[in-house]
Amino acid sequence: MRLKDKVAIVAGAGAIAEGWSNGKATAVLFAREGARVFAVDRDLAAAEETCAVIRAEGGICTAHRCDVSRADEVDAMVAACLAAHGRIDVLFNNVGLQVVGGPLELAEADWDRLMTVNVKSMYLTCRAVIPVMLSQGGGAIVNNASTAGIRFTYANVGYAASKGAVRQLTQNIGVQYAARGIRCNAVLPGYIATPRITDRLKRSNPDDYEERIEERRRAVPAGRLGSAWDVAYAVLYLASDESAFVNATEIVVDGGQTASVTGKVWGT
Ligand SMILES: NC(=O)c1ccc[n+]([C@@H]2O[C@H](COP(=O)([O-])OP(=O)(O)OC[C@H]3O[C@@H](n4cnc5c(N)ncnc54)[C@H](O)[C@@H]3O)[C@@H](O)[C@H]2O)c1
Repeated sequence: MRLKDKVAIVAGAGAIAEGWSNGKATAVLFAREGARVFAVDRDLAAAEETCAVIRAEGGICTAHRCDVSRADEVDAMVAACLAAHGRIDVLFNNVGLQVVGGPLELAEADWDRLMTVNVKSMYLTCRAVIPVMLSQGGGAIVNNASTAGIRFTYANVGYAASKGAVRQLTQNIGVQYAARGIRCNAVLPGYIATPRITDRLKRSNPDDYEERIEERRRAVPAGRLGSAWDVAYAVLYLASDESAFVNATEIVVDGGQTASVTGKVWGT
């Protein structure tokens, strides 16, 4: 019961297809650890599906529809969480979309969308939740960035820049509110086999999908892709009081990939 009696907002708590997304796995893990979960998604059915899993296990979950890139919807979402659960102890900012391409391939509109959905949304949710946490004496914010925010992974300029910005947003907020009990940290997942990634690879590589997955697997020193649960356990630690002295920093969840200059699996 590592989150006993805590209320946790999970933004992007659904999954775009069958399987475990980072948000869905984290929401379920939070509930298993005693949190009351406020599952937020722009797709209400996806949030409800996550809540159904939690309730089937005996947990507590409320589903709420909200596009976190819209200020009015974010403010209403935070008010709804307070109305339902009376407090907010944890905010997991998990929403992030990806549009692949370098500066010559990425459309200007997609650059703007990446910045709005991946970065501005976190500013908006923090802006709405921090006053609540301050009035309660503290809280934990965890932002989902990416190893693309620290290293070149593939031509992905808008996504990489947005995730670099998430890291700095995290650090800035963490330091500003440290003395007032709010911690703000990030997780940086690497190659994680969530439905968003596997579906995109299947669609863009229908003939050699298995090969593309194998290529990714071979780039990870651990010799496998990560799962949403690998991300969820790192988020759980940062959300819980176990990490009380961990602030304005990040956990890389990538099987050793970022640390490796060779990009290969050793000893196999
Ligand atoms: N999967 C990976 O390999 C990987 C690697 C690094 C980082 N990440 C990061 O993890 C996070 C989640 O990725 P995923 O693949 O698990 O999730 P996902 O793409 O399946 O999205 C989870 C949910 O977010 C919701 N969502 C999207 N835009 C929204 C919005 N504007 N407002 C509210 N909800 C919205 C979707 O409806 C979906 O249910 C992202 O920030 C992503 O950048 C993923």
